[in-house]
Amino acid sequence: MKIAILGYGTVGKRLDELLCSHPTGIEVKKILRRPGKAEGPRMTESLEEILKDPEITAVAEVLSGVEPAAEYIRRALSAGKHVVSANKAALASDLPGLISLAEASGVSLLFEASCGGGIPWLESIKKARLFDEISSLKGILNGTGNYILDAMERQGLDFSQVLERAQALGYAEADPSADIDGFDVYNKTLISCSLAYGGVVTKGFPVLGIRKVTKELLEGLRAEGKSLRLMMLSRREGDRYAMGVAPLILPADSIEANVQENYNCASFTGDVVGELKFYGQGAGGYPTADAMIGDLIQLREGTARPVELTRTLVYDESLLQGTGYFADGLRKEGTLSQLAAYAKEKDIFMAFSYREEAHA
Ligand code: HSE
Repeated sequence: MKIAILGYGTVGKRLDELLCSHPTGIEVKKILRRPGKAEGPRMTESLEEILKDPEITAVAEVLSGVEPAAEYIRRALSAGKHVVSANKAALASDLPGLISLAEASGVSLLFEASCGGGIPWLESIKKARLFDEISSLKGILNGTGNYILDAMERQGLDFSQVLERAQALGYAEADPSADIDGFDVYNKTLISCSLAYGGVVTKGFPVLGIRKVTKELLEGLRAEGKSLRLMMLSRREGDRYAMGVAPLILPADSIEANVQENYNCASFTGDVVGELKFYGQGAGGYPTADAMIGDLIQLREGTARPVELTRTLVYDESLLQGTGYFADGLRKEGTLSQLAAYAKEKDIFMAFSYREEAHA
């Protein structure tokens, strides 16, 4: 199978390197680069050249940000090319539209690498959904955020020092606000919940980040036997569901509180299988490229599972309730939506303590 890679950053380079050095039966024929960057016969600045090449049956999209990536995905699907994407922002911008376009064009759109890097997270959700109904998801899905909170907690470092390290290690996005303000997890939550619940989910759900977290706040939590992790949260009951992103207060001995460095740990609950947890490297060139190669091999073998978003879902914020711990010392009960709105209005940091037993 011959493919083109759209983008040549951290992930694109690793993807090319792995495909060139391993016998996968997948050949990188072309690499799309920004104007002025193309070098050598495989590189081009022209998407059209790639789309018109009948030998290229799939494109691997590893650009960052929504545009032009989403437009390139649309053009590739419309041209009858399978698309494998790691770009959660572009996918989350119009997941139902892109899935419909792939279906109408008779090709596959696969995006395992968009959530949880090298962890087979979406694949496991799709597999569970063959038989189980999924009723909740939660997890650490941002390597940068976890790296920052973990280093602040365990090494007592300042936020800005650790962010610089995460950028140097290639975990953080070019614009790290997506990581630290929660929007990277927002995109991954939207993608994960769409697949887990099998329907179109709203884009309007609460998102809180860790930009204003302080060493002192983490020390205070530690003294109480607690820890903080930036997490996705979601619950479904029948056709009602809620989801959100927040710095979550956890018992210091919980599995998630002990997830270190850039690692991710996400779990879902199936009605028959119960809770399943997935742990591994959620960011970085090799783990992400690895997940993309898994998708490409499925395409080559014709074994990719299609995604269907057919269930009608209704957003119900009352499914996520708990306590907000605000930076000014206030503690307040409510739904995550209410508490997040208050934190935004006051422009202060809030950590959320989730009351799971409220739903038991
Ligand atoms: N910036 C993202 C993270 C990359 O830190 O998790 C992987 O999606």
